[in-house]
Amino acid sequence: MLNHRSIEIAPSILSANFSCLGDQIQAVERGGAGVLHVDVMDGHFVPNITVGLPVVKSLAKFTRLPIDAHLMITQPGVYAAQFVEAGARMVSVHVEADAHLHRTAMSIKAAGAQAGVVLNPATPVIAIEEALQFVDYVLVMSVNPGFGGQQFIPQTLDKVRRLRQMIVERQLNVRIEIDGGVDRANIESVVAAGAEIIVAGSAIFGKPDAEAAVRELREATVQWV
Ligand code: DX5
Ligand code: ZN
Repeated sequence: MLNHRSIEIAPSILSANFSCLGDQIQAVERGGAGVLHVDVMDGHFVPNITVGLPVVKSLAKFTRLPIDAHLMITQPGVYAAQFVEAGARMVSVHVEADAHLHRTAMSIKAAGAQAGVVLNPATPVIAIEEALQFVDYVLVMSVNPGFGGQQFIPQTLDKVRRLRQMIVERQLNVRIEIDGGVDRANIESVVAAGAEIIVAGSAIFGKPDAEAAVRELREATVQWV
């Protein structure tokens, strides 16, 4: 069941060198990245501030990779469709931040992108049981959102397995993305658990050769493809 899936590596630019972001993105393109993960933080939902709409707009014109905007902001419903207009092809919002998830997901889809819902480490899978029917992917946080370079929370593996089971039982076409603390040592276990879009920040941009780092992560997943 888990064989013959398409596994994509999604480098997170949070750990990139922003003074030469274009070069860094070209390196991960050469390494075989499938998606470019952009972490949007507002200093309210999470205790950090990163980038927003203008950066997504510039990057969308620059890269051939689909941009995956991970919104760690309060009131994501106000901004989600604007990220699609800026060029994001995937936009995810936290279930903890949005009381109107159905409306937000519909606004993302109506604008022409894939809609995702994100679960913090302490948020149970059951919180998105209804939402599974109207999203394209679920992003499971394997660290507390806000910062790159944190330790993978091991209980996440079982959470991904349970989510995978829920998706299979309901015969839904929903992909699982995982984000936080993924590296060469644990990537095989996250893929084995059922994740298909694998975000990695410091395991790619924290390395001297980002291109080689993406290639290595990809190669570690080939048995599942
Ligand atoms: C954390 C972000 C992640 C982060 C992952 O809030 O959502 O995307 O960049 O970084 P690593 O891979 O270093 O944990
Ligand atoms: Zn992220």
